[in-house]
Amino acid sequence: MAHVVTESCIRCKYTDCVATCPVDCFREGENMLVIDPDECIDCQACIPACPAKAIFADTDLPADQSAFVAINARLAKQWPSIRAQKPPLSDADTWKDVAGKRKFLT
Ligand code: F3S
Repeated sequence: MAHVVTESCIRCKYTDCVATCPVDCFREGENMLVIDPDECIDCQACIPACPAKAIFADTDLPADQSAFVAINARLAKQWPSIRAQKPPLSDADTWKDVAGKRKFLT
């Protein structure tokens, strides 16, 4: 089991989640974070912290977000660790409630 960052994070990257993580399991890409499933301890602390409601337990994942289990696992091995909260992307509030952002993942 692990927690999963989903599409809602893309183009937002608020990073409030990072401040809650006791095991530093977040990894940072250009416009999204992912969770390293080998590090996540399922504490659930990050779920309510995300303004975009992007994080789910893998057992509670919306069906249309199931691809993000593999996306988190794959990109967590490529992206660097992020251990401190930082400012969100400049237009995060504009993108927070937009659906269909997967095509913008870089
Ligand atoms: Fe992304 Fe939400 Fe964290 S937008 S960076 S999962 S607080």
